[in-house]
Amino acid sequence: MAENVTGPFQKIEHVGIAVRDLEEAVARYEQTLGTACYKRETVESEGVETAFFRTGESKIELLASTRDDSPVARFLEKRGEGVHHLAFEVDDIHKEMERCRKLGYTLLSESPKPGADNKLVVFLHPKEHHGVLIELCELIE
Ligand code: CO
Repeated sequence: MAENVTGPFQKIEHVGIAVRDLEEAVARYEQTLGTACYKRETVESEGVETAFFRTGESKIELLASTRDDSPVARFLEKRGEGVHHLAFEVDDIHKEMERCRKLGYTLLSESPKPGADNKLVVFLHPKEHHGVLIELCELIE
């Protein structure tokens, strides 16, 4: 096994957590993490409202639904509140999408989409990753 070698996934950029009540969840996580939410952002195309917290080199992204037919609303209905996705930072999202396609994985969009917090994002279907929805994100600042 290779030691100290990171693959193309640089780090866990954030952990996404689906919540029913964003105000209540922000207050709770501010208290627990001991730091204020640094960004709130709605991504209308995804029907999601997000709130971000810094935790060392990674972040926590709280996700609430803005409409009944959004992917987060469906997740909450099916699985309830809890961990929704793991997001890995990559340097070149197009290259990683190509690599994932060659591996036969199901990508949830044909091309990267603008995500919250200055990113291009794409998701890999949880069926190929033991029930975990994986987000690849490239910072676009
Ligand atoms: Co995310």
